[in-house]
Amino acid sequence: MKSENQNKYDTARKVTEVYYDSPDADNFYFNIWGGEDIHIGLYDETPEISKASRCTVAYMAKTIANLNANTRVIDLGAGYGGAARYLASNFGCKVVCLNLSDVQNKTNRRMNLAQGLDDLVQVVHGSFEDIPEPDAKFDVAWSQDAILHSSNREQVIAEAWRVLKPGGIMIYTDPMQADSCPAGVLQPVYDRIHLESLGSFAFYRDVAEKCGFTEFRKENMTHNLSVHYSRVLDELERNYESMSKISSKDYIDRMIVGLQNWIDAANTGYLAWGIIRLSKPE
Ligand SMILES: C[S@@+](CC[C@H](N)C(=O)[O-])C[C@H]1O[C@@H](n2cnc3c(N)ncnc32)[C@H](O)[C@@H]1O
Repeated sequence: MKSENQNKYDTARKVTEVYYDSPDADNFYFNIWGGEDIHIGLYDETPEISKASRCTVAYMAKTIANLNANTRVIDLGAGYGGAARYLASNFGCKVVCLNLSDVQNKTNRRMNLAQGLDDLVQVVHGSFEDIPEPDAKFDVAWSQDAILHSSNREQVIAEAWRVLKPGGIMIYTDPMQADSCPAGVLQPVYDRIHLESLGSFAFYRDVAEKCGFTEFRKENMTHNLSVHYSRVLDELERNYESMSKISSKDYIDRMIVGLQNWIDAANTGYLAWGIIRLSKPE
């Protein structure tokens, strides 16, 4: 018989899978959020969502020394695979995209094929709480704005540790709550992702240490969070009529409220976002 916790994890996973597989979400993320990159962008050089989102990928890649054709990467919660194609086409890396959403996986495979990258990018359906890959296979575990969806984030970091080679690194971004966030103020934010909590820099530092990672480096880039959600909200409102034809009006109206809740929480200082980098010892 499954434990109460296991049932909770299964439910959270199913809710996320059904959500990202829905035409409502698929149309919204692909058309408004940033195209093939559906994470928070870096806005220092551009106000354009897709360009800013690509800047995040490029910036993260730049922090990893010696990416090359021998580098094996796993992208945990890979969405449409934008980062994988960037790593494959710029450095020749071999990337496994692990993702729960088969609808996104289909688009990912189609784009890999169209760009001649299907020999370097493999798309696998599965959950990052239970990675369907052997121990010590990867040099880099990469993830962007996906682990927030887990109801067992400790398990995700432990799984990343397991599939990394000795000397491997985990690099990821995640929308989080601020270390100083008071209890009980983020319910409207949690509601948008159907969860009861977010991670935080302090939480991830603690978990990384427990797993055995020897280095915890964080780059706090929270100022981009409110800019990104505001830009997505602007675009959604500007394209309200056309988007209502491909996603339901009810979904879009709820998304507008949800985005505003995130912007408000970010402006109050309750949220955090940035890049975390962990090293597995040799
Ligand atoms: C906001 S999107 C980010 C996608 C991608 N990392 C990017 O930056 O473009 C979150 C992604 O996490 C995936 N995801 C959520 N829970 C997951 C799980 N338990 N296992 C694998 N993927 C998951 C979703 O399907 C979705 O693709």
